[in-house]
Amino acid sequence: MKVIATIAELQQALMPLKQSGAKIALVPTMGALHQGHLSLIAEAQKQAEIVVCSIFVNPTQFTDPKDLEKYPRPLEHDIKMLTGAGCNFVFMPSVKEMYPNYPTPENWKIDLGPAEFVLEGEFRKGHYQGVTQIVYKLFDAVKPDVAFFGQKDFQQVLMIKNMVSELNLAVEIVTCPIIREADGLAMSSRNIHLNKADREHSLALSKALFFIEKNYASQPIDQLIEQAKAMINSVKGIELDYLTIANGDTLLPIEEKAGTGTVALIAAKVGETRLIDNVIIN
Ligand code: PAF
Repeated sequence: MKVIATIAELQQALMPLKQSGAKIALVPTMGALHQGHLSLIAEAQKQAEIVVCSIFVNPTQFTDPKDLEKYPRPLEHDIKMLTGAGCNFVFMPSVKEMYPNYPTPENWKIDLGPAEFVLEGEFRKGHYQGVTQIVYKLFDAVKPDVAFFGQKDFQQVLMIKNMVSELNLAVEIVTCPIIREADGLAMSSRNIHLNKADREHSLALSKALFFIEKNYASQPIDQLIEQAKAMINSVKGIELDYLTIANGDTLLPIEEKAGTGTVALIAAKVGETRLIDNVIIN
């Protein structure tokens, strides 16, 4: 596996491969890799000849500077994992490489639709402008045929698809299923911040979502939400930001049950760590 830090070097390495007709996949990450990321790499390897994984902790998508500062950066461990997974290239640029004028903000304002401002968008103002800004820059650097993202960040994938459609980008977006720990907790780079008690409490999130999924057909929506919220609120140390059963395109709460496109989404602070999770219901 080749480790590359500059856009120029990356493009030089990829050019002959592209010219030979190889399909290029990109797996964008912020590092602190876990099995969820490896499942994206594995899917990318099934669908493309060359897999590039990017590791870049993107400052423009953090609304809280403390969150940016404490974001885990176990680079040696990440490189080992990617080497073991047979990834072809890891792109690890500096902040200056991606944002030459940093910390002066660059112009980036794109219409991501009204779903930008709900759920995560309400709690993390400007977050999806920052996410789409860096994903656009990574697409521009790698020029992938296909890019892979995890369903755990359901709203993020929707925003990236909206960007691709708004800017007519020639890249296919593939969403890969959530990978969970054996007890149900969705894998996340943030899980390493959970202490023993938080780790136990965190299970309430997936339990509430699985409860909704299991009882969706038989119970009214408001009752499902009420009971799932009660499950969360009965666990001390959890502060619920939202729990909703929503339309997967608009992310607005559904009032009546639909046959397809329904997703239950949750975000909560467990101790000091904010976690998100979701389940696609139909
Ligand atoms: O999901 C992430 O890790 C990040 O939001 C992404 C897509 C790599 C952009 O920084």
